[in-house]
Amino acid sequence: MAEDSAENHDAPRRLRQAFGSFATGVTVVTAHDADGAPIGFTANSFTSVSLDPPLLLVCLAKSSGNLTSFSQAQRFAVNILKDTQRDVSARFASRVEDRFSNTDWHSGPEGTPVLDGTVAWFECVTDNLVDAGDHVILIGRITNFDHSDARPLAYLRGHYLDLGIAETAAEQVSHHGGVRVGCVLDCLGKVLLQRTTEGWTLPFGKTCAGFREARAELEKTLAAQNVNAEIGALYSVFEAPNGNATWMIFQGDLHSFSQGEELQLFDPDALPLAEIDARQLRAALRRYASEARQSRFGLYVDDAHSSGNVTQVEARPTPWTRFITGQEGQQ
Ligand SMILES: Cc1cc2nc3c(=O)[nH]c(=O)nc-3n(C[C@H](O)[C@H](O)[C@H](O)COP(=O)(O)O)c2cc1C
Repeated sequence: MAEDSAENHDAPRRLRQAFGSFATGVTVVTAHDADGAPIGFTANSFTSVSLDPPLLLVCLAKSSGNLTSFSQAQRFAVNILKDTQRDVSARFASRVEDRFSNTDWHSGPEGTPVLDGTVAWFECVTDNLVDAGDHVILIGRITNFDHSDARPLAYLRGHYLDLGIAETAAEQVSHHGGVRVGCVLDCLGKVLLQRTTEGWTLPFGKTCAGFREARAELEKTLAAQNVNAEIGALYSVFEAPNGNATWMIFQGDLHSFSQGEELQLFDPDALPLAEIDARQLRAALRRYASEARQSRFGLYVDDAHSSGNVTQVEARPTPWTRFITGQEGQQ
């Protein structure tokens, strides 16, 4: 580890990097400006401060175009983003003029803009502003809040964390002979399957040496078929039927695709299982159908010593080391 002193001209950059090694969630802080227009910015400097009285804080850069508006706002809200809201994080960190026109939001109980579909939100009265170097600390007294047990978006070293974990896992599995990435895409409760000469399968990319390339291959395949989807959490990891690669299946939301002979949506309870060649895929889809009924999904990782484990993802995640020793499992 390289040490640094404040005199070092490179210190601010290195300090920013060092701060970045603290994993955080991602929030969007919202308020109304003096004209009543909704304003907001992405922030990971959110911290819970006190239960009694209920206080939180967030740091706003003095360079922000929103500094005056937030300093003068009587109220503001902190919205904790869900793992599928990377686009919202990017929009509220960008130079887009009206960040709200493409964002679903509503007014909170006290009238503050509250974003839809987040993990949690806190509506606050501005309690105090603390001048702190190149930032202002906004301290809010919470008047209303709500939360769900959806998975939050996480951020570490300038990257969203969910993918980072998958990449680490994939770097390990790639020693195993290659990685092939596929996806279970949901559209209004139905699952997208692809027809091949052997029957039906999930959309897959080609087998590659590493996860990054394999994921890019899947994205390329989807794009070539006009499939517009958002890929989310890892769902299932197991040995390929021929044993020479690891298959990683992600969950995702299907926004649009061109209906045709090759791609079709199926009700999870009416999947053409008899026409799905790979036993592991049949098992993954059977599990998906049963989990979809409860809207609660787990991560399956096969294991050298047992028939494979399903872990509720909100609970303790399956250790990634399993990827190294995994063998063909019996789901
Ligand atoms: C993940 C992430 C976290 C951020 N955290 C903060 C923060 O805590 N405070 C801050 O002032 N800016 C933060 N930013 C940057 C602001 O979102 C961005 O500079 C701001 O929205 C720029 O627009 P503005 O000048 O109109 O405010 C963050 C950006 C990202 C992508």
